Amino acid sequence: MVATSEPLTLHNLDITDTDLYVERGYPWEAWDLLREEAPVYWYQRPRHEPFWAITKWEDVSFISRHPELFSNTQLLRMMDTESIHMGQRARVRGANRYGGSPDDPADFIFMDPPEHRQHRSLMSGHFTPRMMKTLEDHFEEMAENYVSRFADVVVAQLAEKGEQGTVDLVHELAAKLPVAAICEMAGIPEEDWDQIFTWTETLGGAADPEYREPGETQEQTIRRNSRAWRSYNTNLFERRLSEGLGDDLLSTLLNAEVEGRALTPREVSTYFRLLLAAGNETTRNSITGGIKVLLDNPEQLEWLVADESTVPGAVEEMLRWTSVVIQFQRTAMEDLELRGQTIRRGESVVMWYPSANRDEDVFEDPYKFDIGREPNDHFAFGGYGEHFCLGANLARWEMRALFHALRPLLPKLELAGEPELVAGSLHVGGIKRLLVRARS
Ligand code: HEM
Repeated sequence: MVATSEPLTLHNLDITDTDLYVERGYPWEAWDLLREEAPVYWYQRPRHEPFWAITKWEDVSFISRHPELFSNTQLLRMMDTESIHMGQRARVRGANRYGGSPDDPADFIFMDPPEHRQHRSLMSGHFTPRMMKTLEDHFEEMAENYVSRFADVVVAQLAEKGEQGTVDLVHELAAKLPVAAICEMAGIPEEDWDQIFTWTETLGGAADPEYREPGETQEQTIRRNSRAWRSYNTNLFERRLSEGLGDDLLSTLLNAEVEGRALTPREVSTYFRLLLAAGNETTRNSITGGIKVLLDNPEQLEWLVADESTVPGAVEEMLRWTSVVIQFQRTAMEDLELRGQTIRRGESVVMWYPSANRDEDVFEDPYKFDIGREPNDHFAFGGYGEHFCLGANLARWEMRALFHALRPLLPKLELAGEPELVAGSLHVGGIKRLLVRARS
């Protein structure tokens, strides 16, 4: 850990200690230094397997676009050694439960081409811009409802408690639309949406003791919630099959074939869980962080409120600014050179997306929040390669609908504290609470 008086150097910087993320937020200065002095840096610290830290936009782009050189099949995210072991135990249990081998891909993110493309394409038709256009009016209607309910809560709190009348933006607003939209697309009954949210929130946050039952370890929390969610899914799948398939995401999966065979129960189950989980934490945090940065930048907020044509650009800038996915990892498939460094076959490379999104070679004045930024080729959804976020259009359309509906309310809100961050995550930079209140 860096003592505050010590100047930051390559030797003392720390980009993996999750306690520091909670205390100080993202390690922007460390990433700046890495981009400047060692953009392809062999990072060795206790409690972590060593890896190449990749911090520049161009290199993230290169790695993302070359799945033949950088594989997804081994480690997908940089985590501490104990979490890697936990993941291995989960794979063994999965194989015992469903058959197959612990080395089988946990879901299709862990696949390389051509297998990856075969699985991804089963679902990609549901997430095209054209499909999102057909849902646009509906998303706007849902967003208006959620914003109007949120406004009622904010006003009621002000009336009841005055200055003390704070409201948690995360649970009262930001979390709502992402869960509703994906659950509806998946054909999950509305009365179950809160439960789905709790499972995804708890599984994403299990490293943080707040999400655990008293006395539980992280692994026990994950197992308890996974068990409950699995059993819910089994019932849901049976019901869907007996009631008849429709055009929802689950029906598509239950009907899907790869190379002439139906998906196995394990494949359906993990695919479905991925679709439901991947967008909740990510989109919710982008919304929460987006509202925060707008409230911190009143002139940008005013511009957004005055001119509705700024909404799509503002959403892109919020995505760049918040960069809620911190990193994904790849494994080198052969010896190769990057910026003069030799990366050996089998070594890990870790792409730090927030750093790429502040790369001064790509973004002018990268630490300025500018909703009119053009171009804005950010990597919030990955580096536009084989694994580029499947739900990027969904997230964009949800955020556009939400910020469109939120414009009239934004000038009436103020922050009532700093964001409280989810502990222990090196994958998604999660905000668990952010208090706001009505301006008096
Ligand atoms: C603001 C919200 C979101 C952010 C910031 C985000 C970010 C990302 C990132 C960085 C990746 C990895 C890309 C890569 O490796 O090149 C990814 C992959 C993925 N995302 Fe998202 N995501 C968001 C919302 C969603 C939503 C709403 C869904 C819903 C379906 C989703 C589903 C997925 C899936 C399935 C993958 C794996 C794709 C593959 O391996 O081919 N994401 N996302």
